[in-house]
Amino acid sequence: MEVVILPSPEEVTRLAANLVARLVRETPTCVLGLPTGNTPLKVYQALVRMHREQGLDFSRVTTFNLDEYLGLEYDHPASYRRYMWEQFFGHINISQDNVHIPDSKTDNVERFCMMYEHAIAEAGGIDLQLLGLGEDGHIGFNEPTSSLASRTRLKTLTDATMHRNQTTFEKGKMPRHVITMGVGTIMESRRCVILAFGRQKAKAVAGMIEGPVTAFVPASALQLHPETIALVDEAAATDLKLQAYYRQVYRNKPTWQRYE
Ligand code: GLP
Repeated sequence: MEVVILPSPEEVTRLAANLVARLVRETPTCVLGLPTGNTPLKVYQALVRMHREQGLDFSRVTTFNLDEYLGLEYDHPASYRRYMWEQFFGHINISQDNVHIPDSKTDNVERFCMMYEHAIAEAGGIDLQLLGLGEDGHIGFNEPTSSLASRTRLKTLTDATMHRNQTTFEKGKMPRHVITMGVGTIMESRRCVILAFGRQKAKAVAGMIEGPVTAFVPASALQLHPETIALVDEAAATDLKLQAYYRQVYRNKPTWQRYE
């Protein structure tokens, strides 16, 4: 895993946006895997700016979202579908037909999940999977002890995730069940870019990068992925033992190979 430690959350999101933009320019028909949450918000804002100011063209891009709460109305304020249209898709020239988000209203979850996997394969697989990191080391909604070979499926949220994410829901109205791409699905992406900032992510970052590969920290599976870049800020890097080494490696990269 390539570890890039950056001075601020703004730098983390700027470099992530650059990586996405570079791919979209080089391969206009690329397939993106996309997360929600607080972490990627500024990445989406930067990409919207690039679309407006530099004509970054999303018309032939295909996207697959990582996860969604089960049972929510599509326009529920906490639905990831609404988040994606409000924060990103509604401001770029993406074709609605190319957008895929797990269906919160499906009446046959198992069948839907199979079709989602099938659609990813049909699209030629995910070229770049952008990821946030849960404080417990989850990616997507793959909670601790998720199979590292798992595919898109129904998951039950842990109390800790229920607690952290409940702010966006009316009291007692938060679904406990979600649909999420599996760790195995994520691992098939050609490139993964995982972002984390803030001291509250430091333990998960250390577990993901320097801990053993374990289903207890699902993000640690990325150690087995041939092309994963972890972009983290100083605060999220606090618990990393080899900080100096990661900095040196990135500094020694030729400028054109950096993500700036
Ligand atoms: C959530 C989402 C993940 C997200 C993670 C971190 O529960 N299901 O996809 O990456 O937790 O969220 P945040 O970026 O808000 O810290």
